Amino acid sequence: MLLELVAVALATIHFGVPLVYYWYLKARWLNKPWNIEVDPNYKPEVSIIIPTYNEAELIEKKLDNIYEQDYPRDRVEIVVVDSASTDGTPEKVRDWSRRHPDLRLVLLEEPIRRGMVPALNYALKNVSSGTGIVVFTDVDAFLPRDGLRQIVKYFADEKVGAVTTCIYPLEKSDGRDLEETYRDYYNVVRIGESKIHSTPIHNGALIAFRKKLLEALGGLPTYTGNDDSTPASLMAFMGYRAIQIDDVVVCEPVRGNYMKRKIRRAQHLILHFIYTKRYAKNLGVYQRTDFDKIWRIEAFLHLANPWLLLASTALLLALSIMKSLIAIALLSLGIAMLLLYKPFRTWILNQLYLAIASIRNLWTKEIIWSK
Ligand code: GDD
Ligand code: MN
Repeated sequence: MLLELVAVALATIHFGVPLVYYWYLKARWLNKPWNIEVDPNYKPEVSIIIPTYNEAELIEKKLDNIYEQDYPRDRVEIVVVDSASTDGTPEKVRDWSRRHPDLRLVLLEEPIRRGMVPALNYALKNVSSGTGIVVFTDVDAFLPRDGLRQIVKYFADEKVGAVTTCIYPLEKSDGRDLEETYRDYYNVVRIGESKIHSTPIHNGALIAFRKKLLEALGGLPTYTGNDDSTPASLMAFMGYRAIQIDDVVVCEPVRGNYMKRKIRRAQHLILHFIYTKRYAKNLGVYQRTDFDKIWRIEAFLHLANPWLLLASTALLLALSIMKSLIAIALLSLGIAMLLLYKPFRTWILNQLYLAIASIRNLWTKEIIWSK
């Protein structure tokens, strides 16, 4: 009986903490004002950096998408940084640029592939001096026509350091349903946290930074392999707001191997939650704010919580083998929910990805990846 109680307690913490957190954010924060001085007329110079590795198929569509933004074209520059693509991506970029001479485009070509973050750091050194805002965006992320303008308006307030958007999958493909379910819970939490202060998890599909803060960090840190959550959280630790906004949605096709990608992203997030706070302290930029509480909860949810589920399940399995009726009933309930309730299935899968990712981090950090 004692072991059954332990298993139930572990499961209760595992599911209870994120659920209570979700309800709290939804009820108390989601619809609060931003407490940010937004100015729709704020239009500084923006550099849009696009990292590419073998993106010949989508790159023109991506450049068109930026070209169609309703932002003053003379205040935008595009920097494409390509890392030795073998499919003719740079040629396509040069060709597109010749056809669109009214938009400034710089193409940087690295002789070897060192990974996305090193490529972005190289690109950062090559943005125009007048630039106030730097946007990092993946080739497979598409903005609505007013997207850039809506994002930039938040930077009118000096205390905003980083802005990311909601993202939704673009078309029907494998994994789409799962991705949608995940995004719903996810977006409520991200926006709720952003209203309080900042969210520790940002979407690399598209993220905008205040350039002078990136410079203060000495560029993007390379220990996590991501270009989004880590620099954004460092800015939040510096006392700036690093937010996910709710009025722009970026579309992203789910492409490549869904599971591999989820595990890689989880690996980057785990490294992020292990090292980023310490990194901010070592840099001497750390300030104590409400972001600390958010950080602690999310660090718990990413580093410890998945293991509570695994421990509880293992215990129930062992007890079932020893013919405990309570354990058998609880496991059956879990299996029924897995089969019948999609959000539950998505949640459990994400816990597995996090657990696999922690183990995988022991031998590879996935700084360079295949699609
Ligand atoms: N220059 C360069 N060099 N670009 C690269 C490299 C590289 O070695 N590897 C990938 N890229 C480019 C891709 O061409 C794409 O435009 C972008 O980086 C993102 O890569 P994807 O392959 O589309 O992966 P993703 O969407 O799953 O990547 C996301 O996850 C990362 C964290 O794991 C991105 O949104 C990242 O921003 C995020 O940090
Ligand atoms: Mn992508």
